[in-house]
Order: sequence, then structure tokens, then C-alpha cells
Amino acid sequence: MTVGTDPPHASKIAVVGVGHVGATAAYALMLRALCHEIVLIDSDSALASAEAADLSDANALARPTRIRAGSFADAADAAIVVLTAGAASHGDQSRLSLATESAPIVTQCVRDLAAHGFGGILVVAANPVDLMTLLAIRHSKLERKRVVGTGTLLDTARIKQALGAQVAIAPSAIEAYVIGEHGDSEVPVFSTVRIGGQPIGRRVNRSQRNALAVGVRDAGYRIVEGKGFTSFGIATAIVRICEAILRDERSVLPVSSWVGKTYGPIDLCLSLPCVIGADGIKEILFPMLDDEEQVALVASAAQLADALAVLDR
Ligand code: 2OP
Repeated sequence: MTVGTDPPHASKIAVVGVGHVGATAAYALMLRALCHEIVLIDSDSALASAEAADLSDANALARPTRIRAGSFADAADAAIVVLTAGAASHGDQSRLSLATESAPIVTQCVRDLAAHGFGGILVVAANPVDLMTLLAIRHSKLERKRVVGTGTLLDTARIKQALGAQVAIAPSAIEAYVIGEHGDSEVPVFSTVRIGGQPIGRRVNRSQRNALAVGVRDAGYRIVEGKGFTSFGIATAIVRICEAILRDERSVLPVSSWVGKTYGPIDLCLSLPCVIGADGIKEILFPMLDDEEQVALVASAAQLADALAVLDR
């Protein structure tokens, strides 16, 4: 299949967890006509059936996609499984504080997928996504490269949006990355931001960058404060990853993947720019960081390691 072609018509995507994020992701997948079938799986089967019915009604006005509620058996031959099932943050709860609640849910879902022989690509969105991506690798029997966490793709979108507003340039024209934990210790890599090949130092000074970094780090909290959850941003990040996989794009997206002991004494997942294609993570790209950013990335890894140690107790 040549790069950038239409997705294979035999593509099925299963969404496990049909809360706000899962349902919104399914809706966006349907509108983008990315696959021929979407299966919704949830412990609340009535919810899954109702969302499938509602989405099927919508699909009558869009490009034909078969949408139905199903079980883990229906996910076995899916090209992609999107895993959103897990704890949702409330108020100013940190994402890492959700680990003990999300871990058994994610582990059981991944074991159920493995028991049914799922061999596609697993896209993990459940928070704390870096730890949940690691658990998914541990329990899925998939090759590590076939487990992709949404990671800091959403934070990267947020910083492009904030920089774009700051300098009155389209976010899509800004090359920028946020790396590390999808959470409070994330690292905006300002030293590599480019606009038309220009570094941003000429347009955004130090104090403006610090304010932007805080705004991006806390964006999720602000949205949860106002609407009780976030959905459109994370759902669009999920769809962007699915698109890169199904089209075998070889696009570079900051997603959470296995980095082993690169940044510390225990195996971790965290976000770095990755080449994404039909078989998941094709390559991890390690950006040139200045000293401050390198220290911050190691510190972010240490935060994840500490949280993982608590989980593994
Ligand atoms: C967010 O930042 C859900 O963690 C996700 O919106």
C-alpha cells in the first residue's frame, strides 16, 4: 500500500470505553470516514448500544460506516483498538493520581483483548496515559511498537494553538513539540520551535514562553473545571493517530511509547516525536534539547518512575 492512500476498506476500529472521550472519538472517526466499521465496547452495554444507535442515525447523513455495540470478541480482527476505559479526572486531580483506579480497568481490558487474539494496533488514551501505555505493553502480548499512547500529542496541539494566537500565525504552520509525561511534568521544547524556519526567540520572549507553558500544562484542568471533562481535543488526537496508522503515513507525532531505561533505572513509556505508520511506532526521534529541557525531561521521567513504583507495589 503506497503512503497516503485511502484507508483499507477492510479496516475495523473498536473503541473500548464509550464515555465522553470514547463516544466523541467514535463520532470523529465516523465523520472522517476512516474505517468501514466501528465497534463500541463498554461494561455498560446499554450505553454502548445507545451510542451505537445514535451514531448510526448520524451516519445516515455521512459516508457509510457500520457502527454497532459489541464485545471483546468483536475486537479480535480490528485494525485498531482505541482504549479510553479508565478513571476520569475531577476538579484539580492530577492525571497521575488516577493510576490506581485506572490500572485494573486497563489491565483487564488488555488481557481480554489478548485472550481473544487481538493482533492489531492498540491506541491507549486512558489516563495517566504514559503509565497505562506501559501496562498495556506488559499485558497485551503485542510487540511494543504496536502500542501507542496518545501522550503529549494533545499538549503539542495546545502549544501550537497558544503560540499561533501569540504570534497571529496558523497553528499548523508552527513546528513545536511537548514531550515527556502527558501531565504536570510535561516539557515544552521551545528551543526547537520553528516558524518558517525561524526560531521563536525573535517573537516570544522568556516570560511569554513560561506563561504559555503553564497555560498548556493546565489547559486540561481549566476545561474539566468548566465542562466536567475534556473530549474534543483528546478525541481528535486519537483520530489523528488512527489516520496515520491506517494510511501508513510515516507522519511524526509526539506520542507515548516504550523508551525502556533511556531516562532512568526502570522501563517507562513517555512522549517523544515518533514516526507513525501501519505497524505503529516505526521510529522514535530524539530531539536536540538544550540543557534545561534535558533536565526537565529526565525529571519528567522520574515523576513517571515514582508513580509506577507506587503502582507496582
Ligand atoms: C486532556 O488533557 C484528557 O488528559 C486529557 O484533555
